[in-house]
Amino acid sequence: MKFSEEIKRRRTFGIISHPDAGKTTLTEKLLLFGGAIQEAGAVKSNKIKKGATSDFMEIERQRGISVATSVLAFEYQGTKINILDTPGHKDFAEDTFRTLTAVDSVIVVIDVAKGVEEQTEKLVEVCRMRNIPMIVFINKLDREGKDAFELLDEIEQKLNLTVTPLSFPIGMGYDFKGIYNIWEQNVNLFTGDPRKDIEETVEISDLASEELDQLIGSKAATTLREELELAQGVYPEFDKQAYLDGNLQPVFFGSALNNFGVRELLDCFISIAPPPRPKESDVRKVEPSEDQFTGFVFKIHANMDPKHRDRLAFIKIVSGKFERNTPYLHVRHNKKLKFSSPNAFFAERKEIVDVSYPGDIVGLHDTGNFKIGDTLTEGEELRYKGIPSFSPEHFRYINNADPMKSKQLEKGIDQLMDEGVAQLFTLELNGRKVIGTVGALQFEVIQYRLEHEYGAKCTYENLNVFKACWVEPKDPKSEEFKDFKRVKSKYLAHDKRGQLVFLADSAFSLQMAQQKYPNIKFHFVSEYK
Ligand code: G4P
Repeated sequence: MKFSEEIKRRRTFGIISHPDAGKTTLTEKLLLFGGAIQEAGAVKSNKIKKGATSDFMEIERQRGISVATSVLAFEYQGTKINILDTPGHKDFAEDTFRTLTAVDSVIVVIDVAKGVEEQTEKLVEVCRMRNIPMIVFINKLDREGKDAFELLDEIEQKLNLTVTPLSFPIGMGYDFKGIYNIWEQNVNLFTGDPRKDIEETVEISDLASEELDQLIGSKAATTLREELELAQGVYPEFDKQAYLDGNLQPVFFGSALNNFGVRELLDCFISIAPPPRPKESDVRKVEPSEDQFTGFVFKIHANMDPKHRDRLAFIKIVSGKFERNTPYLHVRHNKKLKFSSPNAFFAERKEIVDVSYPGDIVGLHDTGNFKIGDTLTEGEELRYKGIPSFSPEHFRYINNADPMKSKQLEKGIDQLMDEGVAQLFTLELNGRKVIGTVGALQFEVIQYRLEHEYGAKCTYENLNVFKACWVEPKDPKSEEFKDFKRVKSKYLAHDKRGQLVFLADSAFSLQMAQQKYPNIKFHFVSEYK
């Protein structure tokens, strides 16, 4: 197959949702369609089970599983689909944000009864900021839930999206009869039989036809006609370009558990979702079709076996072909590296591959060369932008509890931060180190891993920080900035890249600083330019 065709047939995407909306179930059904797995239940849930949230050993266990589900690739009707796993647990939110830098589009799963939930709001906002094309799947139609119009309204309001339904439910819960597929103009009747993997659909191109009444009953048919007419009046017509630009989000309804409405979603997805997209670097925009290989690290996974400290760095290929045993430039280190056993991912296994294409993910064994955001090229000195750090939610001082092991501690902290487990801030005033995490559990994970993987011991000390704000002065030489640095010296720190960060102790003090220093910007994200 020609290089350009290999690119065109690839779809790399992520599924985002609030925990329990049905992400794992949907993923599994998609894999069933692709023939990548043979039976339901084959994909292990990557979520941390309820009730286990205080047990960080559970997180360790789950880390093992999540390597297996990091990338799930399968073929469907000639399309190569790569699903990138986005952890649902809130302690891993940062991982999910970073994974979103490697997807070309997303599917958002929403529970019909719960509607838009908190985590979905945050994740969709990140996608919206980056104009990532999104398709919405409203799940669990076999249960009683909110009215379709109410939900569409809620999605527009809370997620700030412009939606257009491409399918429409006929009834719901006990009365759920099926869906009308606006995209394909047919009716899909619900039998409630999850074992069926290929559904039967009935073509109804003329909604006024008697056939519809016979299929679903006159009452439901009348309601459907009315609702569709209303929907057509309220929502814009589907426009592929608007979807690709991130300005319009098509919506599907279904029940992942019953494998219902999933094929419709998948068929539409492969026809509208974008193939690998170009990516901005610090010097230029890179097109997937360029023949020179480039890619970037978006995720690092530590080995589960503490005796081997090697890690798996996940690279998204942006352009060109990635070939085994070929020297590539590690731009940050200015050093050529060769990889003898790059892993490619399939539904449930990984395999060493000779060639991978734009859109694909390869896993490279790493002994500490990589950190998140690193770029690999065939020689060109460019760096990919856009792997931001978000302000952590929890902050603590980290202290060395074993003075004989300070080297090990330093190395351990360094590597764990490169993996993106947490963020490290060094106070300007006294050089003390502060760890910031998204979830409180991460502190235990760090302590445990420092001890078991690096032989170092640490203790924590509480520190009252509301948010880490990356500081951007309009003029670094101004009196205003000097005054800010003097007055706030106790609260200033540097992140791992040396950027100045203000550790505001309360929302109030941040607000005061914003008022007092109007020419200084305070960002909650490290990449603001
Ligand atoms: P997540 O990955 O987004 O966290 O959600 P997951 O797929 O694990 O689904 C959460 C729960 O919702 C599961 O039930 C799953 O069976 C159920 N579910 C998913 N899709 C549907 C659907 O279309 N209809 C209905 N009625 N339920 C659905 P659970 O009892 O929490 O887990 P399990 O014991 O079934 O694994």
